[in-house]
Amino acid sequence: MPFPQTRLRRLRTTHALRGLVRETRLTPADFVYPMFVAHGIEGREPIAAMPGVDRLSIAHAVTEAGEALALGIPAVLLFGIPLSKDEDGSEAWDDEGVVQLTTRAIKQAHPELLVIADLCLCEYTSHGHCGVLRPDGIVDNDATLERLARTAVSQARAGADVVAPSDMMDGRVGAIRAALDDDGLVETPILAYSAKFASAFYGPFREAAGSAPAFGDRRSYQMDPANGDEAVRETLLDVQEGADIVMVKPALPYLDVIRRVKQEAAMPVAAYNVSGEYAMVKAAAAAGYLDERAAVLEALTSIRRAGADIVITYHAKDAARWLQET
Ligand code: PBG
Repeated sequence: MPFPQTRLRRLRTTHALRGLVRETRLTPADFVYPMFVAHGIEGREPIAAMPGVDRLSIAHAVTEAGEALALGIPAVLLFGIPLSKDEDGSEAWDDEGVVQLTTRAIKQAHPELLVIADLCLCEYTSHGHCGVLRPDGIVDNDATLERLARTAVSQARAGADVVAPSDMMDGRVGAIRAALDDDGLVETPILAYSAKFASAFYGPFREAAGSAPAFGDRRSYQMDPANGDEAVRETLLDVQEGADIVMVKPALPYLDVIRRVKQEAAMPVAAYNVSGEYAMVKAAAAAGYLDERAAVLEALTSIRRAGADIVITYHAKDAARWLQET
């Protein structure tokens, strides 16, 4: 029955009615809060392009993790900035590396908070690429797998509840699963950055982690932003190799990919609202061009509506506070 019998505005008349028919819910329980932990620093260091996000000492990371937990956020995602970088990225798999130390400290202080360890070499390599290099400067896929697998085992032994490979090497999920299982770590889930695009929106993160590639770019391993079918293929391969949760990254420019991946994989899907997405909202809000709170809650709700079960976002703590107020 069309108009005038049908009037969609009827269900929009009051706050209570709108709430009753709302299709997508956003709660702090959906969020993962990413943190940058720098080995050997005291206190915190601001990141210019990410107001409100700092590089943290291990002690400050424990405090911030506790704040996230108190706000109802179930998980943090750890990125490490090592004491020193080298060709191989060896602090990544050092049992006394910054992520391992921070994981132990957070789990001791807040055992119920999930610690997800980002698993990549780019923060640890002197050249900033996500794997070890061949003599010709190309990232060596198969030689990198062994380092990633060692890193995963070291992170899980340190107490990481989940390991999250973000390197985009072929075959890494299978290599990591095999190494974890060999070590008896059969219960550690893998959250795979499955459809990770070669994106301009990672710029502020690379400033934060000092991980911009020293030469070239990441287009020989991260995906072409133009490709949707390939995103589905990448995801299904990760599932075959043993991924427990798959991820699409970035989030907002790739909502269609989130939807396709959710439909095709029919398993838990995470979406990463990345540093550049965060920086845009912060810059516009600071200039008075946007209402930050409304814009953030709308964007995060849209990521959930597209099909993401889990939203990884630097806005997590603010959004959790705003959701408590509404
Ligand atoms: C490491 C990694 C990156 C991000 C997450 N893991 C950077 C990159 O691939 O260059 C980006 C996250 C963000 O921009 O917030 N491989």
